[in-house]
Amino acid sequence: MTDMFPLTLEQVIVRRQRKLVLGPVDLTLDQSGLTIILGPNGSGKTTLLRVMHGIERINAGTISWAVDDPAKHAFVFQSPIVLRRTVSENLAYPLRLLKTPPQNVRAAVHHWVERIGLGGVRNSPATRLSGGERQKLAIARALIRKPEVLFLDEPCANLDGHATREIEALLQETAANGTRLVMATHDLGQARRLARDIVFVLHGKVHESGPAETAFSNPKTSEFAGFLRGDIVT
Ligand SMILES: Nc1ncnc2c1ncn2[C@@H]1O[C@H](COP(=O)(O)OP(=O)(O)OP(=O)(O)O)[C@@H](O)[C@H]1O
Ligand SMILES: [Mg+2]
Repeated sequence: MTDMFPLTLEQVIVRRQRKLVLGPVDLTLDQSGLTIILGPNGSGKTTLLRVMHGIERINAGTISWAVDDPAKHAFVFQSPIVLRRTVSENLAYPLRLLKTPPQNVRAAVHHWVERIGLGGVRNSPATRLSGGERQKLAIARALIRKPEVLFLDEPCANLDGHATREIEALLQETAANGTRLVMATHDLGQARRLARDIVFVLHGKVHESGPAETAFSNPKTSEFAGFLRGDIVT
Protein backbone atom coordinates (compact mmCIF):
# COMPACT_ATOMS: atom_id res chain seq x y z
CA MET A 1 0.00 0.00 0.00
CA THR A 2 1.31 3.40 -0.89
CA ASP A 3 1.16 6.73 0.92
CA MET A 4 1.66 8.69 -2.32
CA PHE A 5 -2.06 9.16 -2.94
CA PRO A 6 -4.32 10.99 -3.39
CA LEU A 7 -3.05 12.39 -6.64
CA THR A 8 -4.91 15.56 -7.47
CA LEU A 9 -5.01 17.37 -10.80
CA GLU A 10 -6.50 20.85 -10.73
CA GLN A 11 -7.34 22.81 -13.85
CA VAL A 12 -4.55 21.09 -15.78
CA ILE A 13 -4.18 22.25 -19.37
CA VAL A 14 -1.84 20.93 -22.06
CA ARG A 15 -1.51 22.81 -25.37
CA ARG A 16 0.65 21.74 -28.26
CA GLN A 17 1.20 24.08 -31.17
CA ARG A 18 -1.58 26.31 -29.78
CA LYS A 19 -4.01 23.40 -29.93
CA LEU A 20 -5.78 22.42 -26.70
CA VAL A 21 -4.78 18.77 -26.28
CA LEU A 22 -5.95 18.24 -22.70
CA GLY A 23 -8.06 20.05 -20.18
CA PRO A 24 -8.97 21.77 -18.17
CA VAL A 25 -8.86 18.57 -16.11
CA ASP A 26 -9.83 18.26 -12.45
CA LEU A 27 -9.34 14.75 -11.15
CA THR A 28 -8.47 12.93 -7.94
CA LEU A 29 -7.09 9.40 -7.80
CA ASP A 30 -7.13 7.72 -4.42
CA GLN A 31 -4.96 5.14 -2.83
CA SER A 32 -5.76 1.71 -4.06
CA GLY A 33 -7.00 -0.16 -7.07
CA LEU A 34 -6.83 -0.14 -10.79
CA THR A 35 -7.94 2.90 -12.74
CA ILE A 36 -8.65 2.59 -16.43
CA ILE A 37 -8.44 5.65 -18.65
CA LEU A 38 -10.84 5.04 -21.49
CA GLY A 39 -11.48 7.00 -24.64
CA PRO A 40 -11.27 6.85 -28.42
CA ASN A 41 -8.09 7.49 -30.44
CA GLY A 42 -6.76 10.99 -30.03
CA SER A 43 -8.90 11.76 -26.97
CA GLY A 44 -5.91 12.51 -24.72
CA LYS A 45 -5.32 9.25 -22.81
CA THR A 46 -1.57 9.14 -23.39
CA THR A 47 -1.25 12.84 -22.60
CA LEU A 48 -3.17 12.41 -19.34
CA LEU A 49 -0.98 9.46 -18.28
CA ARG A 50 2.17 11.42 -19.08
CA VAL A 51 0.87 14.38 -17.06
CA MET A 52 0.28 12.12 -14.05
CA HIS A 53 3.72 10.56 -14.40
CA GLY A 54 5.25 14.03 -14.59
CA ILE A 55 6.78 13.74 -18.05
CA GLU A 56 4.39 16.05 -19.93
CA ARG A 57 4.84 19.80 -19.85
CA ILE A 58 1.63 21.43 -18.65
CA ASN A 59 0.58 24.95 -19.62
CA ALA A 60 -1.62 25.60 -16.61
CA GLY A 61 -2.90 23.99 -13.44
CA THR A 62 -1.35 21.89 -10.68
CA ILE A 63 -0.49 18.25 -10.10
CA SER A 64 -0.11 17.27 -6.47
CA TRP A 65 0.68 14.00 -4.78
CA ALA A 66 0.19 13.39 -1.05
CA VAL A 67 3.87 12.40 -1.03
CA ASP A 68 5.71 12.54 -4.35
CA ASP A 69 8.64 10.35 -5.10
CA PRO A 70 9.39 9.89 -8.81
CA ALA A 71 11.50 6.84 -7.94
CA LYS A 72 8.27 5.09 -6.96
CA HIS A 73 6.54 5.63 -10.32
CA ALA A 74 7.04 3.46 -13.37
CA PHE A 75 5.67 3.83 -16.89
CA VAL A 76 5.18 1.20 -19.58
CA PHE A 77 4.94 2.71 -23.04
CA GLN A 78 2.61 1.55 -25.77
CA SER A 79 5.45 0.23 -27.93
CA PRO A 80 7.82 -1.36 -25.47
CA ILE A 81 11.44 -0.52 -25.84
CA VAL A 82 13.72 -3.49 -25.28
CA LEU A 83 17.44 -3.22 -24.92
CA ARG A 84 19.66 -5.03 -27.43
CA ARG A 85 20.69 -7.47 -24.73
CA THR A 86 19.43 -10.77 -23.39
CA VAL A 87 16.06 -11.12 -21.71
CA SER A 88 17.78 -11.54 -18.32
CA GLU A 89 19.96 -8.48 -18.86
CA ASN A 90 16.89 -6.42 -19.73
CA LEU A 91 15.42 -7.37 -16.36
CA ALA A 92 18.66 -6.82 -14.46
CA TYR A 93 19.33 -3.39 -15.95
CA PRO A 94 17.01 -1.24 -13.78
CA LEU A 95 18.31 -2.94 -10.62
CA ARG A 96 21.93 -2.39 -11.63
CA LEU A 97 21.14 1.30 -12.04
CA LEU A 98 19.90 1.23 -8.44
CA LYS A 99 23.16 -0.47 -7.34
CA THR A 100 21.28 -3.51 -6.08
CA PRO A 101 23.69 -6.20 -4.79
CA PRO A 102 24.38 -8.82 -7.51
CA GLN A 103 22.88 -11.76 -5.60
CA ASN A 104 19.63 -9.82 -5.16
CA VAL A 105 19.65 -8.92 -8.86
CA ARG A 106 20.04 -12.61 -9.74
CA ALA A 107 17.19 -13.65 -7.45
CA ALA A 108 14.83 -10.98 -8.77
CA VAL A 109 15.68 -11.76 -12.41
CA HIS A 110 15.09 -15.46 -11.78
CA HIS A 111 11.72 -14.74 -10.16
CA TRP A 112 10.52 -12.44 -12.93
CA VAL A 113 11.79 -14.38 -15.93
CA GLU A 114 9.87 -17.40 -14.66
CA ARG A 115 6.81 -15.36 -13.70
CA ILE A 116 6.42 -14.09 -17.26
CA GLY A 117 7.11 -17.50 -18.80
CA LEU A 118 10.37 -16.53 -20.50
CA GLY A 119 12.70 -18.79 -18.52
CA GLY A 120 13.45 -20.82 -21.64
CA VAL A 121 14.70 -17.79 -23.56
CA ARG A 122 16.41 -15.94 -20.71
CA ASN A 123 19.73 -15.90 -22.58
CA SER A 124 18.30 -14.97 -25.98
CA PRO A 125 18.39 -11.41 -27.30
CA ALA A 126 15.23 -9.59 -26.25
CA THR A 127 14.97 -8.17 -29.76
CA ARG A 128 13.94 -11.66 -30.95
CA LEU A 129 10.86 -11.78 -28.73
CA SER A 130 7.33 -11.58 -30.10
CA GLY A 131 5.18 -8.51 -29.43
CA GLY A 132 3.40 -10.14 -26.51
CA GLU A 133 6.66 -11.38 -24.98
CA ARG A 134 8.21 -7.94 -25.31
CA GLN A 135 5.27 -6.37 -23.57
CA LYS A 136 5.49 -8.88 -20.70
CA LEU A 137 9.20 -8.15 -20.45
CA ALA A 138 8.55 -4.41 -20.38
CA ILE A 139 6.00 -4.83 -17.58
CA ALA A 140 8.32 -7.11 -15.58
CA ARG A 141 11.19 -4.65 -16.07
CA ALA A 142 8.97 -1.92 -14.62
CA LEU A 143 7.77 -4.08 -11.72
CA ILE A 144 11.19 -5.42 -10.78
CA ARG A 145 11.95 -2.04 -9.15
CA LYS A 146 8.86 -2.48 -6.94
CA PRO A 147 7.18 0.79 -7.91
CA GLU A 148 4.20 1.92 -5.83
CA VAL A 149 2.38 3.18 -8.90
CA LEU A 150 2.59 1.82 -12.42
CA PHE A 151 1.25 3.72 -15.44
CA LEU A 152 0.58 1.64 -18.54
CA ASP A 153 -0.29 2.99 -21.96
CA GLU A 154 -2.37 0.47 -23.95
CA PRO A 155 -0.18 -2.48 -22.96
CA CYS A 156 -2.29 -4.93 -24.96
CA ALA A 157 -2.68 -2.94 -28.18
CA ASN A 158 -1.86 -5.25 -31.12
CA LEU A 159 -1.75 -8.40 -28.96
CA ASP A 160 -3.87 -11.48 -29.47
CA GLY A 161 -6.30 -12.95 -26.94
CA HIS A 162 -3.80 -15.29 -25.34
CA ALA A 163 -1.13 -12.65 -24.74
CA THR A 164 -3.78 -10.20 -23.56
CA ARG A 165 -5.09 -12.71 -21.01
CA GLU A 166 -1.60 -13.34 -19.67
CA ILE A 167 -0.93 -9.64 -19.27
CA GLU A 168 -4.31 -8.99 -17.67
CA ALA A 169 -3.64 -11.79 -15.15
CA LEU A 170 -0.25 -10.27 -14.34
CA LEU A 171 -1.80 -6.83 -13.86
CA GLN A 172 -4.60 -8.14 -11.67
CA GLU A 173 -2.12 -9.95 -9.47
CA THR A 174 0.03 -6.82 -9.28
CA ALA A 175 -2.95 -4.69 -8.22
CA ALA A 176 -4.02 -7.33 -5.68
CA ASN A 177 -0.53 -7.15 -4.18
CA GLY A 178 -0.98 -3.43 -3.54
CA THR A 179 0.65 -1.70 -6.53
CA ARG A 180 -1.51 1.17 -7.77
CA LEU A 181 -2.19 0.77 -11.49
CA VAL A 182 -3.35 3.46 -13.89
CA MET A 183 -3.80 2.20 -17.42
CA ALA A 184 -5.04 3.63 -20.71
CA THR A 185 -7.03 1.54 -23.14
CA HIS A 186 -9.63 2.06 -25.81
CA ASP A 187 -10.77 -1.56 -25.36
CA LEU A 188 -14.07 -1.54 -23.55
CA GLY A 189 -13.98 -5.30 -22.88
CA GLN A 190 -10.64 -4.91 -21.18
CA ALA A 191 -11.91 -1.99 -19.14
CA ARG A 192 -14.89 -4.03 -17.97
CA ARG A 193 -12.62 -6.92 -16.99
CA LEU A 194 -10.05 -4.88 -15.09
CA ALA A 195 -11.29 -1.52 -13.92
CA ARG A 196 -12.11 -0.63 -10.38
CA ASP A 197 -12.40 3.01 -11.38
CA ILE A 198 -12.69 4.57 -14.78
CA VAL A 199 -11.82 7.93 -16.25
CA PHE A 200 -13.45 8.56 -19.63
CA VAL A 201 -11.77 11.17 -21.80
CA LEU A 202 -13.01 12.68 -25.02
CA HIS A 203 -11.49 15.63 -26.88
CA GLY A 204 -9.09 16.18 -23.99
CA LYS A 205 -11.79 16.47 -21.36
CA VAL A 206 -12.84 14.09 -18.60
CA HIS A 207 -16.50 13.31 -19.20
CA GLU A 208 -16.94 10.67 -16.52
CA SER A 209 -14.93 9.36 -13.60
CA GLY A 210 -15.61 7.12 -10.64
CA PRO A 211 -16.24 3.51 -9.65
CA ALA A 212 -16.41 1.30 -12.73
CA GLU A 213 -19.48 -0.61 -11.66
CA THR A 214 -21.59 2.54 -11.33
CA ALA A 215 -20.19 4.16 -14.46
CA PHE A 216 -20.83 1.09 -16.62
CA SER A 217 -24.33 0.40 -15.32
CA ASN A 218 -25.42 4.00 -15.03
CA PRO A 219 -23.35 6.40 -17.15
CA LYS A 220 -23.82 10.01 -16.15
CA THR A 221 -23.01 11.59 -19.49
CA SER A 222 -24.44 11.00 -22.94
CA GLU A 223 -20.87 10.82 -24.31
CA PHE A 224 -19.93 7.87 -22.10
CA ALA A 225 -23.31 6.21 -22.69
CA GLY A 226 -22.65 6.46 -26.44
CA PHE A 227 -19.15 5.02 -26.07
CA LEU A 228 -20.59 2.10 -24.07
CA ARG A 229 -23.18 1.43 -26.75
CA GLY A 230 -20.37 1.20 -29.27
CA ASP A 231 -21.33 4.39 -31.08
CA ILE A 232 -18.52 6.10 -32.88
CA VAL A 233 -18.10 9.08 -30.58
CA THR A 234 -16.68 12.14 -32.25
N1 LIG B 1 3.40 17.02 -29.62
C1 LIG B 1 2.17 17.20 -30.11
N2 LIG B 1 1.91 18.17 -31.01
C2 LIG B 1 0.66 18.36 -31.50
N3 LIG B 1 -0.40 17.62 -31.15
C3 LIG B 1 -0.20 16.66 -30.27
C4 LIG B 1 1.08 16.37 -29.70
N4 LIG B 1 0.96 15.34 -28.84
C5 LIG B 1 -0.34 14.99 -28.88
N5 LIG B 1 -1.03 15.76 -29.74
C6 LIG B 1 -2.47 15.67 -30.03
O1 LIG B 1 -3.14 15.56 -28.81
C7 LIG B 1 -4.30 14.77 -28.91
C8 LIG B 1 -4.32 13.72 -27.83
O2 LIG B 1 -3.26 12.81 -28.06
P1 LIG B 1 -3.05 11.52 -27.19
O3 LIG B 1 -1.88 10.80 -27.75
O4 LIG B 1 -2.97 11.89 -25.75
O5 LIG B 1 -4.39 10.69 -27.44
P2 LIG B 1 -4.73 9.17 -27.12
O6 LIG B 1 -6.08 9.16 -26.50
O7 LIG B 1 -3.62 8.57 -26.36
O8 LIG B 1 -4.82 8.52 -28.57
P3 LIG B 1 -4.54 7.00 -29.05
O9 LIG B 1 -5.71 6.19 -28.61
O10 LIG B 1 -4.45 7.13 -30.53
O11 LIG B 1 -3.25 6.56 -28.41
C9 LIG B 1 -4.30 14.22 -30.32
O12 LIG B 1 -5.19 14.99 -31.09
C10 LIG B 1 -2.87 14.44 -30.79
O13 LIG B 1 -2.81 14.63 -32.16
MG1 LIG C 1 -2.36 6.99 -26.76
